[in-house]
Amino acid sequence: MPTDKELASTDEESSPPHKGPSMSNATRGRILFGGDYNPEQWPEETWHEDVRLMKEAGVSSVTVGVFSWARLEPTPGAREFGWLDRLMDLLHDNGIGVVLATPTSSPPPWMGRLHPETLPRDEDGRIEWWGGRQHFAHSSAVYRSYAAAITEDLAARYGSHPALTMWHINNEYCTYDWSDTAAAAFRRWLQDKYDTLDALNTAWGTAFWSQGYDIWEGVLPPRHAHYMNNPTQVLDFKRFTSDALMECFVAERDIVARHTPHIPVTSNFMPFWQGQDAWEWAGREDVVSVDIYPDPRDPFGGQYSALIHDMTRSQARGGPWMIMEQAAGPVNWRGVNHPKPHGLNRLWSLQAVARGADAVCYFQWRQSRQGAEKFHSGMVSHAGERGRTFQEVKRIGAELALLSPKVADSQVRGDDVAVLLDWNAWWASQQAGRLSSEFDYPAVVRAWHRALWEANTTASFAHPEHDLSAYKLVVVPQLYLLTDAAIDNLAAYVRGGGTLVSGFLTGVADEDDRVRPGGMDERLRELFGIRTLHEWWPLDADERADVEGFRGTLWSEEIEAADDVDAVVPYKGGELDGLPAVLRKGRAWYLSTLPEPDALRTLIAGIAEGAGIRPPLDGLPAGVEAVRRGDLLFLLHHGRDTVTVPVPGRHRDLLTGEDVTGGVELGRYGVAVLEAAP
Ligand code: GAL
Repeated sequence: MPTDKELASTDEESSPPHKGPSMSNATRGRILFGGDYNPEQWPEETWHEDVRLMKEAGVSSVTVGVFSWARLEPTPGAREFGWLDRLMDLLHDNGIGVVLATPTSSPPPWMGRLHPETLPRDEDGRIEWWGGRQHFAHSSAVYRSYAAAITEDLAARYGSHPALTMWHINNEYCTYDWSDTAAAAFRRWLQDKYDTLDALNTAWGTAFWSQGYDIWEGVLPPRHAHYMNNPTQVLDFKRFTSDALMECFVAERDIVARHTPHIPVTSNFMPFWQGQDAWEWAGREDVVSVDIYPDPRDPFGGQYSALIHDMTRSQARGGPWMIMEQAAGPVNWRGVNHPKPHGLNRLWSLQAVARGADAVCYFQWRQSRQGAEKFHSGMVSHAGERGRTFQEVKRIGAELALLSPKVADSQVRGDDVAVLLDWNAWWASQQAGRLSSEFDYPAVVRAWHRALWEANTTASFAHPEHDLSAYKLVVVPQLYLLTDAAIDNLAAYVRGGGTLVSGFLTGVADEDDRVRPGGMDERLRELFGIRTLHEWWPLDADERADVEGFRGTLWSEEIEAADDVDAVVPYKGGELDGLPAVLRKGRAWYLSTLPEPDALRTLIAGIAEGAGIRPPLDGLPAGVEAVRRGDLLFLLHHGRDTVTVPVPGRHRDLLTGEDVTGGVELGRYGVAVLEAAP
């Protein structure tokens, strides 16, 4: 078994970004349709029934083995592959491809019993026991060694199986660990980063509260403390955790890639999840995949989905991406779990395709009868094949088959806008000791994305250090922490003729979470025409700041504009009366508050228009989303009342086969996929 030291040397940093096989090896020109399939929960007779129904529903791909470790390795080192051999053959014989998962997210009970150091601990030192799932200590040499061994054997056994189309590593990597094993790995990570303790003490500002370290062994993960933990220690711990999990991913990826260099590899993201820096991770995957569970009762569920689609498409950077999991009906982890009303599953599935997905898959194929998720929906619900859920699934499968030849591998068009997103900024902005806990970073990003979505503007996401020159408009909802390179990148973007809009609390801290002189970086103040940022004025949850023409939420700032600012929209009344709420200098805009949704939409729509951005279609009724993918125009109606969408020219709706001239009528959750008539 390798030691922790040996494992530490498998650091990804030194190796170049991963360039692996493409998804087309898996999709072969189709939109994949299917879901997680857990046949170990069912007698083998049911498998035959499953396959019959899968064919009926047009299922082309199932993800197998996600939670099969105890079945595959019932005792340490044993291998039980017979059932999986039979299953792989059965699926292949029926033309269904397999995304084969490494089972490493849920170790068998024997592992924790025999090797307690494989169990993670929370910040209070409590063990996360087996009996649930995802109870693995990411930095444990023992865990990693067992994970590597089962991965190696799976790859050797199934690498040449004709059903295999893709590898799925682990599942939603999401464990934090504050154990001694993690502490040792954290110290190694810190030694790599800082080299000397002096450098760490400086970066963490340990002069504050007598925190200076004299030896490395004294440095710990940010465990439960009497009062607020050191924020830079917390920030580095989040960076470390993302990296440690990524090491686990890369180790398994490299094993399967050695056996099957032609088979793409993915690992499914939880969307908008703090634990993994998705920009870093996505670059190491062949195919980016995501799990998405909007609340059917959320009136902006469709906008949330659009955000996740845009984010995942951008993380794939022009490459393919998949919905690895969604729910055909209710989930079972909210307070109250609502089913999807008739039509909503179809709408959100086709929306994913519109916004670029090359696979629409579910958790899970057949609803479980036992275990913690027996009330979570499946494509085949407890009601069986006659149930509404399965009937809708069948319809979606049939429609995807219709669309596949026209859509698969084509690109979403109109990506002139980038919304900047960064995990380091997110992590740092969530710290204890901040001025307001009335909002979090995802909520602010979501507010800006919603404004763009409602303004019918298709947006991408980008990292603040990416090349931004191709975008006409760059939106920074908030980036509390920015590196020098990112700041220079933003300034260069504006100098190069780009339009930049930034929300409040941006450019406050450097990469060690040290507040920049003046409370906001000098280069940014210069860019936006801010002479002095006197004070931050956070707002209470129900408080509004009156601004000329709108009302601000969450935050306000006491700003003195520089002489060279071009335009100012002032606060009205209150302490900030007459001071600038919005500033514009040339093409750079700064908003020191978050306007209410309608005002934000109007503002961003105006700025987008000024930047030369055209919506995919004019005159859309409220609630209808229009997206162009390849040569097709998708119209997605998120409301329940019938509307007519004006569409100039002559088209054919690929879903109905009917001609469309001048306009198309969409009923409740209706969708049209239009191709220009010759
Ligand atoms: C995902 C997970 C699945 C299933 C699903 C339920 O987070 O990957 O295994 O638990 O949630 O919504």
